[in-house]
Amino acid sequence: MQFNALTPALVSAFEQIVTPAHVLTAATAEAQQYEAYGRDHTEDFHFAPDVVLRPATVEEVSAIMKLCHEHQVPVTARGAGTGLSGGALPIHNGVVLSMERFNKILKIDERNLQAIVEPGVVTEAFQNAVKEVGLFYPPDPASKGSCFLGGNLSQSSGGPKAVKYGTTRDYVLNLQVVLPTGEIIWTGANTLKNATGYNLTQLMVGSEGTLGIITKAVFRLLPYPQHNILMLVPFRQEAQAAEAVSAVFRAGIIPSGMEFMEREAIAWSSDYLKIPLTLPEDITAHLLIELDGRDLDELYKEAEQVYEVLEKYDVGEILLADTAGQKDDLWKIRRNIGNSVRYNSVYKEEDTVVPRAELPTLLKGVKEIGARYGFKSVCYGHAGDGNMHVNIIRGELTDEEWNVGLRQPISEIFQLCVKLGGTISGEHGIGLVQKPYMHIALAEANLNIMRGIKQVFDPKGILNPGKIF
Ligand code: LAC
Ligand code: ZN
Repeated sequence: MQFNALTPALVSAFEQIVTPAHVLTAATAEAQQYEAYGRDHTEDFHFAPDVVLRPATVEEVSAIMKLCHEHQVPVTARGAGTGLSGGALPIHNGVVLSMERFNKILKIDERNLQAIVEPGVVTEAFQNAVKEVGLFYPPDPASKGSCFLGGNLSQSSGGPKAVKYGTTRDYVLNLQVVLPTGEIIWTGANTLKNATGYNLTQLMVGSEGTLGIITKAVFRLLPYPQHNILMLVPFRQEAQAAEAVSAVFRAGIIPSGMEFMEREAIAWSSDYLKIPLTLPEDITAHLLIELDGRDLDELYKEAEQVYEVLEKYDVGEILLADTAGQKDDLWKIRRNIGNSVRYNSVYKEEDTVVPRAELPTLLKGVKEIGARYGFKSVCYGHAGDGNMHVNIIRGELTDEEWNVGLRQPISEIFQLCVKLGGTISGEHGIGLVQKPYMHIALAEANLNIMRGIKQVFDPKGILNPGKIF
């Protein structure tokens, strides 16, 4: 794909559209702030944008897209920059379109259990706002305190609650989208059912900014579940922790959280947060299990059933969190594993996912591949979804080992996922870093259909070029 360089004439046209205060270049912006627009949370990558634009209205986005389409300038949309697959990195430079000023919750429709939001709203702020009126927006990525809903839509982000409530894609009803030509469309309707033609709403979700720019979203909401129970279950054998996961579901229970953490994952995170946690020597892994619902007595009965399942395994003393503070601490530890790993070392994040009951085989395979190729991994994740984050630690690996040597073992991990009926990303997307492995998960025919869709939406290939395939 051939792109054109930015001209001074284009920069002043952008200034007309969003005002000069929202056109940042390396020459005009404060260095540290500008640098941050070229990064996300993926390894230590940095790609400098030629210009950062911060529009605030759909009309401004449309005018920007029209110009970029006409002049064939690449546009990479950006949310909060917490992505883990490099989706927001402007690898061909050009325009970074920061959606940070689209930060309004436009309407909470209590009659219909729906909300209309802009994509730059922080996920947790949205959850808190709907909770105030007794409603629930479940998708809760680990970065919920800083990530944007727009980024969640672009990657179909999940989080711990996905196991019972589904991921971002299960809550979106309708999207306002600016196409690369500048046309503005709504993808669907604000209804729970829609059998009207192809599902463009779901096509946009997970498209990683390659098809259009999301400027508004309509989400469905649920009544807020009033009660929850949280338990931390230590296991002496890692394999048994993975096996117990599907046993809990087989007993007829759908937890609202079912998280797996290797010893090191939980140890690093509690150290990083300075939240003390007793970790007996013989414990190799934990499950963090949450049950939620409207009736506390029912929940205690379910908890009893979980205990009965766990009795069959070699578990240590189960910690039943009895205060809101203790629950918060346990979730904080779980949510900060990624941050604590990053604090310890640069790492590669593999977002493996398999059918839940295959998790023990995946875990064993990952460790076996690591031993064979000589790398260390810290594994944790949404075990109830069969979604395990394999963090490959850079440690003392050389540039050659890190950049080239790991391709083969990562391919083997992904081949194992596919063999087990899984795929190469559950919730972090493909972006830049998983692109070389797409052929492992998808046939050439699938990829050709995707390329064709891209061509229809974006014939000049200006939107987030170089991502996904
Ligand atoms: C988590 C992020 C990395 O589950 O998806 O912590
Ligand atoms: Zn996750």
